[in-house]
Amino acid sequence: MSKKIVLLPGDGIGPEIVAEAVKVLEVVDKKHKLGLKFEEELIGGSAIDVHGVPLASSTLEKCQAADAVLMGSVGGPKWDTLDSSIRPEKGLLKIRYEMGLFGNLRPAILYPQLADASSLKPELVAGLDILIVRELTGGIYFGEPRGIRLLDNGERQGYNTYVYAEHEIERIGRMAFEMAMKRNKKVCSVDKANVLEATVLWREVVQSLSREYPEVELSHMYVDNAAMQLVRQPKQFDVIVTGNMFGDILSDTAAMLTGSIGMLPSASLNKDKRGLYEPVHGSAPDIAGQGIANPLATILSAAMMLRYSLDQGEAADAIEAAVGKVLDDGYRSADIFSEGCTKVSTKEMGDAVVAAI
Ligand code: NAD
Ligand code: IPM
Ligand code: MN
Repeated sequence: MSKKIVLLPGDGIGPEIVAEAVKVLEVVDKKHKLGLKFEEELIGGSAIDVHGVPLASSTLEKCQAADAVLMGSVGGPKWDTLDSSIRPEKGLLKIRYEMGLFGNLRPAILYPQLADASSLKPELVAGLDILIVRELTGGIYFGEPRGIRLLDNGERQGYNTYVYAEHEIERIGRMAFEMAMKRNKKVCSVDKANVLEATVLWREVVQSLSREYPEVELSHMYVDNAAMQLVRQPKQFDVIVTGNMFGDILSDTAAMLTGSIGMLPSASLNKDKRGLYEPVHGSAPDIAGQGIANPLATILSAAMMLRYSLDQGEAADAIEAAVGKVLDDGYRSADIFSEGCTKVSTKEMGDAVVAAI
């Protein structure tokens, strides 16, 4: 039976890195007889240029009917001055919301070969393996009311709303506990319960859910402290569960511990474990078009896609092992380059992974 994968390369370095992930998928497809069928669509700025909107409804329908979606990244200076309702990022937010992708898994794993590339001392990051479970369809990203309004005194005021309903907290909390059960059985729930009521409720719901997971050790931490602890002693964490905005910020920090944001993949899942897979980084306008972006985050996102949405763990393992091999062999894109290694382009890195498979 064939498996339909919608590709959404997007903007900036998106098309460059997705092309490499597709090359890798094509070889594992042949080797493991997965029956992958690819269909490419537009999202973000490139969709605005063609359709006038960052996510056409026909694209959304195709994604909803597919077995999985693999995305690059959206956004760029060309579209930064557009009204916020049609910015490239709105396309990504819309697909996450419409597909019900509430659970965003962002694993931060240090490949031992990259210990030198981490911004922290090697002993602080050796063996690092953290999973950030970010809520993705709620919180301040989606809360109403929102906007910019005119005040009586004539000045404008921008406003957003931080909201979480109990069911939203419970389902993301459950995903985190389930993940922890398969790992080191520790969950740290990150909130700002000393200031924000929405996160007082968050803490309460996660705490009561923990009764169903007596084997999992639950702790709570304020987000400011968590940001500090992530760079002080990152290995204290196993699973971190948090809301949409805090998860966005903390995962970029966690990325740097692994050497580069170009190494961090992600899976965004809904209740049926169908999902969208994308690197944690953005469209990197500063290096777009130069052929130097690191494609490994996207290649590793493709591996997550095989594991979580297509139930092809072996094929996923094969991709991850190939990435390890390529790093062993000393291949490095510019962002993770260090003395004595071989500097490679985006395409050469993709070729090396293909060869290692
Ligand atoms: P960014 O992640 O695009 O870039 C931050 C820095 O990291 C840049 O210096 C960039 O060159 C570098 N970088 C990122 N990915 C890399 C890779 N694979 N290899 C090597 N270096 C890499 O973040 P930004 O600059 O804040 O945002 C740029 C645009 O991307 C904005 O329009 C933003 O909205 C968008 N964005 C999109 C996504 C997404 O599509 N999921 C995520 C974050 C930002
Ligand atoms: C991410 C990005 C997005 C987010 C933007 C582009 C909407 O930063 O995927 O981390 O904030 O979720
Ligand atoms: Mn982000």
